[in-house]
Amino acid sequence: MGKGLFLFWLVFYTWVLMEPSTAELPGFFSLDCGGSQSFFDEIGLYWTPDDQFAFGERANVSLANETRAPYTTLRYFPADDRKYCYTLNVTTRTRYLIRATFLYGNFDSNNVYPNFEISLGPTFWSKIVISNASTVEVRELIFLTSDPTISVCLSNATMGNPFISTLELRQIGASMYSTGFENQFYLSTSARINFGAESEEPVRYPDDPFDRIWESDSANYLVDVAAGTKKVSTQFLIDVNHDERPPQKVMQTAIVGTNGSLTYRFNLDGFPGNGWAYSYFAEIENLAPEDTRKFRMTFPGAPEISKPVVNIMDNASGKYRLHEIGFENLTLPFVFSFKFGRTIDSSKGPLLNAIEINKYVKKIDGSPDGGVIASIISPYTSAAWAQEGGDPCLPIPWTWVRCSSDSPPLIAAVKLSGQNLTGNIPSDITKLSGLVELRLDGNALTGSIPDLSSCMNLEIIHLENNQLTGELPSSLATLPKLKELYVQNNKLSGTVPSGLLNKKLNLNYTGNMGLHEGGKRGNRTKIIIGSSVGAAVLLAATIAFCFFIQKGKRNSKHDDNRQILPTQRLVSSLSNAPTENAHCFMLSEIEEATKKFEKKIGSGGFGDVFYGKLKDGREIAVKVLSNDSNQGKREFSNEVTLLSRIHHRNLVQLLGYCQEDGRNMLVYEFMHNGTLKEHLFGPLTRERNFNWIKRLEIAEDTARGIEYLHTGCVPAIIHRDLKSTNILLDSNLRAKVSDFGISKSQVDGVSHVSSAVRGTVGYLDPEYCISQESTDKNDVYSFGVILLELISGREAISNKSSSVNCRHIVQWARPHIESGDIQGIIDPNLREDYDVQSMRKIAEKALMCVQPNGHMRPSISEVLKEIQDALLIEREALAVREGLSDL
Ligand SMILES: *[C@@H]1O[C@H](CO)[C@@H](O)[C@H](O)[C@H]1NC(C)=O
Ligand SMILES: *[C@@H]1O[C@H](CO)[C@@H](O)[C@H](O)[C@H]1NC(C)=O
Ligand SMILES: *[C@@H]1O[C@H](CO)[C@@H](O)[C@H](O)[C@H]1NC(C)=O
Ligand SMILES: *[C@@H]1O[C@H](CO)[C@@H](O)[C@H](O)[C@H]1NC(C)=O
Ligand SMILES: *[C@@H]1O[C@H](CO)[C@@H](O)[C@H](O)[C@H]1NC(C)=O
Ligand SMILES: *[C@@H]1O[C@H](CO)[C@@H](O)[C@H](O)[C@H]1NC(C)=O
Ligand SMILES: *[C@@H]1O[C@H](CO)[C@@H](O)[C@H](O)[C@H]1NC(C)=O
Ligand SMILES: *[C@@H]1O[C@H](CO)[C@@H](O)[C@H](O)[C@H]1NC(C)=O
Ligand SMILES: *[C@@H]1O[C@H](CO)[C@@H](O)[C@H](O)[C@H]1NC(C)=O
Repeated sequence: MGKGLFLFWLVFYTWVLMEPSTAELPGFFSLDCGGSQSFFDEIGLYWTPDDQFAFGERANVSLANETRAPYTTLRYFPADDRKYCYTLNVTTRTRYLIRATFLYGNFDSNNVYPNFEISLGPTFWSKIVISNASTVEVRELIFLTSDPTISVCLSNATMGNPFISTLELRQIGASMYSTGFENQFYLSTSARINFGAESEEPVRYPDDPFDRIWESDSANYLVDVAAGTKKVSTQFLIDVNHDERPPQKVMQTAIVGTNGSLTYRFNLDGFPGNGWAYSYFAEIENLAPEDTRKFRMTFPGAPEISKPVVNIMDNASGKYRLHEIGFENLTLPFVFSFKFGRTIDSSKGPLLNAIEINKYVKKIDGSPDGGVIASIISPYTSAAWAQEGGDPCLPIPWTWVRCSSDSPPLIAAVKLSGQNLTGNIPSDITKLSGLVELRLDGNALTGSIPDLSSCMNLEIIHLENNQLTGELPSSLATLPKLKELYVQNNKLSGTVPSGLLNKKLNLNYTGNMGLHEGGKRGNRTKIIIGSSVGAAVLLAATIAFCFFIQKGKRNSKHDDNRQILPTQRLVSSLSNAPTENAHCFMLSEIEEATKKFEKKIGSGGFGDVFYGKLKDGREIAVKVLSNDSNQGKREFSNEVTLLSRIHHRNLVQLLGYCQEDGRNMLVYEFMHNGTLKEHLFGPLTRERNFNWIKRLEIAEDTARGIEYLHTGCVPAIIHRDLKSTNILLDSNLRAKVSDFGISKSQVDGVSHVSSAVRGTVGYLDPEYCISQESTDKNDVYSFGVILLELISGREAISNKSSSVNCRHIVQWARPHIESGDIQGIIDPNLREDYDVQSMRKIAEKALMCVQPNGHMRPSISEVLKEIQDALLIEREALAVREGLSDL
């Protein structure tokens, strides 16, 4: 019934979207280049023609069989040495996917396959090499916007005419494709493959609400496919609503390596280079209860990423649920191959639903003069030269601009001779600090000549043949490199500053009725007085001007700050912002749920924990991080981002966070049965004592959780504070590990992440106390202590023992176990209800875990194996006991 309802909604929703009267989808913009009218296509996308575009020519493709409307037309440009740009409006600080497509279709009846380049703003994006008339070339970038507009430019034609068929902008979910590099890099899509696809048609909108294009594996050129590879599919709905949100339809199909392995090899356009690679999994086969599916991912040449063991059901906490394994930064070759191989203890072969690989494209900084030049040209938006778009300098400069070779480049020349400019010379010209050449001659400019002394590199100034008035500023004489100054045929007046006359300079000021050289005999006194008065006035003016400049400079710096810094800050805080899949709770919501923090259910080094119940009935635990304990906002966000990506049935799930009023809170699922500690040592022990099998199950659950942190997460996560109060029990008394949020992820090579030792006395690895370098073996030590607690029912630090030396459980238990006296440490509450063999196994393994030297300790996976063996022994023994009692 639930499924029926969903289908109804799906149909309804699709119908609403397809309804032709519905306007464009929010966040979508589809430009049909060369088109002449707007229309809805057959999948419900709304296309807008690029008919206001000032450059280029429209053309029809000459492919009789091309029926997809956006591809029947295109716009092409002259094959010259300038760029042709489209400028699109976007929302700032938002992540988008942009797609440009090119179908040549012999539009020019030349059958010459064009070859050119495209760029996004100043950044080179891709080379477009057309290799036949009927293949659509597609380029995609995923990026975070920083400005309210973006520009896509075509340039550098080496063959044929540059052209473009469509330009598509798709806003994507806030949590999708967020990387730590996005302020410096774009992601360029190289492969997005839907495995097990039912047809060769790619999956896109409306199946993918973000209109990504998922290529069918059967349409792809995949080679080296392992024998026994089979397609599987399901009609059941898949829970895909987190992380990268691959579409249902893609996740409903997969391939399975029925003979134990999956192998593939294909080419990655744009590589070698550094890239982002994700694989998407969901268990969609009906596994028998005894079946398991566990496999390892192997990438030849990259052993460091070959280790995770994937167990889709466990990792995703159930069937039909998305599990992603991703690598944010991998060095990948052009020819990419991978292998997924079944582990020995797995009965089923590996499964894969989809894969996605993007290349990092370094963002190039545009010219810092971009803003200034934009304001200079803003009064002339209808002139063609003002519409060239994109960055003034990169990847190639506007036709009337020359740029320096600095990086980033400055504008070195402005050449706007004879362009019908009117009004004053824009005062912003004086902000172009790298200006060498200024040509504004032959226009209809009026007003006075601005002070150009801030453009210290000016060599050539052409202002002739305008209607300029006022004096020739004496500050021109202060320009150290000035070689050429043409101001003839204007309406200038006053005297020519002597500084200019004394300079070695090409100076032409003829044709200015009121302008004359000073220093004629008869006027001498007057001129001296005049000039001294003039000098005084000039001095005053200079002082005022300097003040102005200073102020102006400060202001402009200020402005810069205002424009750049906060944006960057916002952008960086955005990129670190908690992701969408970690729900952001309102403080009011939390206050309501917790009845203003009424019921405290715990407290720890990081703050107090309160019970709450949400409006929808879900019970929650709210951890209010105490201010002194927690890092800054940024770290908090990092933690939340990290945590929200971790899903495992033996890890307490983070539901969301709240960051208001300077308080940081984390919202977790509520665990009904409290902590392991309460059950082992607390008042609960009497009434509800756990037997040995239950304790082993708890140990197994805990070890699984830790194993996932150590091997299933990339980079691995070290808990660093495992203890019986951090192991929580749900309503079914299954154990989950909590409080791993504050664990730092293990940064490659840099394991000494925090200088402050984290951990709890009694569980803390003595080796870590000394070296302060955290490794996964610290957790193994703590887990060993927990195993000893489970065996003995005694706290890590106990005051039961009279001898001070033996207060620590390790010091107390070690001699007993080493001498074979296991009985001596067993919790009397366990009575005789256990098998000595299983008990010995665990006791000995526990002792291995607490070896002083980390290298001597087993990995958590080995310990898990031992626990499972012990459980097997106990269960067999139990079966025998029950069989006996039945008799
Ligand atoms: C493209 O085709 C349409 C209709 O088929 C026609 O009206 C239009 O003139 C053609 N455009 C060009 C540039 O040839
Ligand atoms: C049109 O025909 C060409 C070759 O004749 C073929 O390669 C291409 O795939 C066809 N295009 C469509 C959209 O069917
Ligand atoms: C972009 O925004 C500007 C200013 O808000 C507006 O004038 C222009 O029409 C918009 N362009 C498009 C293509 O929507
Ligand atoms: C066109 O080129 C593409 C890619 O280079 C190729 O896959 C396709 O088969 C070619 N089609 C024709 C009709 O030559
Ligand atoms: C594109 O052309 C410009 C100028 O012709 C040149 O400087 C630049 O290197 C070219 N870009 C590439 C990637 O070849
Ligand atoms: C795959 O497994 C099947 C069934 O076990 C077997 O018949 C076949 O030979 C295997 N193929 C390979 C290449 O191992
Ligand atoms: C990826 O890692 C390499 C070295 O491993 C590093 O040089 C690079 O900056 C990282 N980031 C990106 C986006 O390439
Ligand atoms: C300047 O204006 C005149 C008259 O309106 C026009 O003929 C000429 O084309 C314009 N020149 C430019 C470069 O726009
Ligand atoms: C100065 O400009 C006038 C008018 O354009 C021209 O006739 C004259 O030759 C120029 N003088 C020099 C020295 O360039």
